[in-house]
Amino acid sequence: MPIHRRDFTGSLSALAGLGVLPNLAQSQESGRSPLFVATWNFGLPACQKSLETLQKSGSILDAIELGIHVAEADVRVDSVGVGGAPNAQGVVQLDACFMDGATHKAGSVAGLEQYPHPISVARRVMEKTKHVMLVGQGAAEFARLQGFEKQELLTEEQRKKWMEWKSKQPADPAAAPPNHDTIALVGMDASGHIAGGCSTSGLAYKLPGRVGDSPILGGGLYVDGEVGAAGATGIGENIMRYCGSFAIVELMRTGMDPTSACKSVIERIARTEKKPPSELHINFLAIDKQGRWGGAGTDAEFQIAVVDSHSARLESPLLVK
Ligand code: GLY
Repeated sequence: MPIHRRDFTGSLSALAGLGVLPNLAQSQESGRSPLFVATWNFGLPACQKSLETLQKSGSILDAIELGIHVAEADVRVDSVGVGGAPNAQGVVQLDACFMDGATHKAGSVAGLEQYPHPISVARRVMEKTKHVMLVGQGAAEFARLQGFEKQELLTEEQRKKWMEWKSKQPADPAAAPPNHDTIALVGMDASGHIAGGCSTSGLAYKLPGRVGDSPILGGGLYVDGEVGAAGATGIGENIMRYCGSFAIVELMRTGMDPTSACKSVIERIARTEKKPPSELHINFLAIDKQGRWGGAGTDAEFQIAVVDSHSARLESPLLVK
């Protein structure tokens, strides 16, 4: 478990307001509470939606997808879905992946333009194709054929910020300030079925076509029904070269608890990079099959939203210095 608890945003009364408490007894009877964890404070309403969806539909896959929709649709979340930061040419390109631990099936999209819910397109890739990953125009054409609605993703606020960035440093995308507000949301139902998803607009002002860790299975997300799940947020280049989420799940397979597994992977990356963790901007969360959750990160502001049948709260995970 993380060592600090910073903020109790959620409460039993908030959950009651969402109508998610009545099924508490049902969850306890099954011997295990459903559990959802997600990155950042905007992960909290997402996880609440996940629990609500699970209790209505009974589907952990629907719960993950519709939970992530909340962040994708919220224009205040400036690096996921609508309102996400654009690339260096002012175009919003979205990445997402979806994974089902029970079947070990997965779907992923990268560089998807004009569709506000890449997580749904990723799930559809998993369920309707023989493939795992679609990119760019191919992903957009698939979304169109599947009946998804197009939408302008670049908000006026993001356009102004991009214009300002462009006027100051057009020639150096690497100089863009790091933004790393990806949503990774993983969950388990009362029967132990684990699934997860990850969705982002990626690094602000990235080179057009740049793909980060978020749609890469094993990088920004990994789910193994026998073990647990892990997800990431931060500078994708520092995560995907180490298969960060895969490495965490594999450590949990050896019996390591989620927080220790996240910490161990961050320390391994820092050792290899020969850099202090504070320069890496990498943050992880994980759950295991026993219903334990945890996380670790290199950014002091990193928070994890945790929602189960008893509470909804924000936690500050272990800071790796
Ligand atoms: N972690 C999100 C990205 O680097 O694209």
